[in-house]
Amino acid sequence: MNIDIQQIEQSKIDSVDFDNLNFGRTFSDHMFVCDFIDGQWTNPQILPYGPLLFEPSARVFHYGQAVFEGMKAFKDDNDDIFLFRPDENFNRINVSAERLAMPPVPEKVFFEGLEKLLNLDKDWIKKGLGNSLYIRPFIIASEGAIAASPAEAYKFIIICSPAQSYYAGEVRVLFSEKYSRAADGGVGSAKAAGNYAAQFYPTSLAHKEGYQQIIWTDANTHQYLEEAGTMNIFFRVGNKLITTPTNDRILDGVTRKSIIQLAEDNNIDIEIRKVSVAEIKEAARLGELKEIFGSGTAAVINPIKGFKHQDDVFELPNIDDSYASLFKEKLLNIQYNKSEDKHNWRVKI
Ligand code: COI
Repeated sequence: MNIDIQQIEQSKIDSVDFDNLNFGRTFSDHMFVCDFIDGQWTNPQILPYGPLLFEPSARVFHYGQAVFEGMKAFKDDNDDIFLFRPDENFNRINVSAERLAMPPVPEKVFFEGLEKLLNLDKDWIKKGLGNSLYIRPFIIASEGAIAASPAEAYKFIIICSPAQSYYAGEVRVLFSEKYSRAADGGVGSAKAAGNYAAQFYPTSLAHKEGYQQIIWTDANTHQYLEEAGTMNIFFRVGNKLITTPTNDRILDGVTRKSIIQLAEDNNIDIEIRKVSVAEIKEAARLGELKEIFGSGTAAVINPIKGFKHQDDVFELPNIDDSYASLFKEKLLNIQYNKSEDKHNWRVKI
């Protein structure tokens, strides 16, 4: 693929405080952009990161025809750069695109664009556990036309943002009683932009009550726990790990499936089944609920310190042998090339 590369004249990297990053606020020097016009992906370019010009009628603004991915690049002590299970993200963006009636991005466009971009901006990937370059590939409907139907023109774009942790401080959650994230037959399993926008209002209500996130319950009964806003969700009752199966309401998280594999590798008893609000509250009352944690690319693994449902408030115990810490350490060691990678999840750039 012939990528037209326009390099920046002067990198802005020296103006960035890499020890004090706010997630998703700082972007690397370049971005990859490719157009879909007349039924074909064309005009792949690497440009200085910056504003793009769109007609106000671009369909993405009106109908939210947009899907995205979240990936990370890591640097090891020898300055080698790795991605973590990038094929999963490539496959998923195209599953999401299909659900939103958008054209799939070819493998060549996705991976050659990504590799060229990372090679140009490799200094933005800092060494050290916890440092990474968060990669945001996305597809948007760029055609200017406001009939409510799929666009004929799209842009596939990749931008990169140096990252440390996603959540600062302790996370407590509300179990949803009223609002829903996704419904049967909807777009919950797609990484569709609108899935996230629709959570902002209920989540802002949760913030007012002192909770950082909502654990979404099933839209029909609100009796089963499904997913956190930006994470899949795991429960530890006794020594058993439980997580919900993926379906058309729940995102098929890459970190989620990696944790399930690591649990199996480490002989941790894991059940993939529906998890009811009632059983988790009962386990908490009996002192058997040892952990809840969320998993996602941005957040990695995030322990949840407490939760509220109706008028019942629970705090989770501090424990020494936490599964969240165990899985986080194992994942990071694989991602930063510090341990064996028996499933070949690491991909060197
Ligand atoms: C990710 O973990 O990559 C996500 O997609 C979460 C994002 C909404 C910040």
